[in-house]
Amino acid sequence: MGTLQHFIKQTLTIMDEQFNTHIDGLNVPSRLKQSMLYSLEAGGKRIRPLLLLATYQAFDSELEKVFSTATALELIHTYSLIHDDLPAMDDDDYRRGKLTNHKAFDEATAILAGDALLTHSFYLVTNDNHLTDKEKVKIISLLSETSGPKGMVAGQILDIDAENKTINVDQLEKIHVLKTGELIKFAVKAGAILGGATEGQIKDLELFAYHLGLLFQIQDDILDVIGEDEKLGKAAGSDEDQNKSTYPKLLGLENAIALRNKHALTAKELLNRTEANTALLEEIVDYFNQRDH
Ligand code: IPE
Ligand code: IPE
Ligand code: MG
Ligand code: MG
Ligand code: MG
Repeated sequence: MGTLQHFIKQTLTIMDEQFNTHIDGLNVPSRLKQSMLYSLEAGGKRIRPLLLLATYQAFDSELEKVFSTATALELIHTYSLIHDDLPAMDDDDYRRGKLTNHKAFDEATAILAGDALLTHSFYLVTNDNHLTDKEKVKIISLLSETSGPKGMVAGQILDIDAENKTINVDQLEKIHVLKTGELIKFAVKAGAILGGATEGQIKDLELFAYHLGLLFQIQDDILDVIGEDEKLGKAAGSDEDQNKSTYPKLLGLENAIALRNKHALTAKELLNRTEANTALLEEIVDYFNQRDH
């Protein structure tokens, strides 16, 4: 097994263990817990925890230090998907190979499962004994900034505003950077900060994350056009149905692919000038760029 394959497997195991400890073990109303676990355990690639762990290990090998932070990030990402699929938003029926949360339960439960995952993520970081108080404050600040009204949530409302409209590439880039790029930025920055990276390294990696986030969402748009439902675990063609603004729609498929590849190249160049153990991150660029699910 290649290094990245091994690391992916390790990340999946770590996340399963974390959910067992931190979610399954919760003494909370049963339907709430079931709906939280339903979406978490439906699978998902766990690319954000993977990226956080991979960035951290570019600087330090004691991975346990970032387990809670990586889990908190996946909880927030999963909440964003549950809400993204709601009828009021993208109105999707399948996610991670299963019925969406509101289809399996009901809309009220799905909204509350999302709320619970979001707030519990901050509880996890606050109660993590591996972090100093200073590190906790730093991580909570960064997590709320990147996932909140200046970050992912901003991207989501701009994405909805752009439905049934023609926008330009700059506007679309802004939406993608916010709705997807911000959580990817959190993964990289949190990994670098907790790993002990220098200010200069953090700056370079932040720019790396910008390009990585863009290529990841461009590929998500591309897969909505050319992907297979079975592999994606969600229905392709959703963007078309909702008349979303996407890269293939704005630029055409060929140009969208070319732009995605260009971001991959720039991302790798930025890694090369970061003096750290970035081999795994380089493999991740290719994995994100070439993924079919
Ligand atoms: C889907 O994210 C939503 C986007 C931001 C593109 P992922 O493709 O990481 O979804 P999962 O976590 O693997 O289900
Ligand atoms: C989702 O973007 C971004 C967030 C959930 C924050 P999409 O709406 O394109 O994601 P999919 O295609 O439904 O996974
Ligand atoms: Mg959406
Ligand atoms: Mg969607
Ligand atoms: Mg999409």
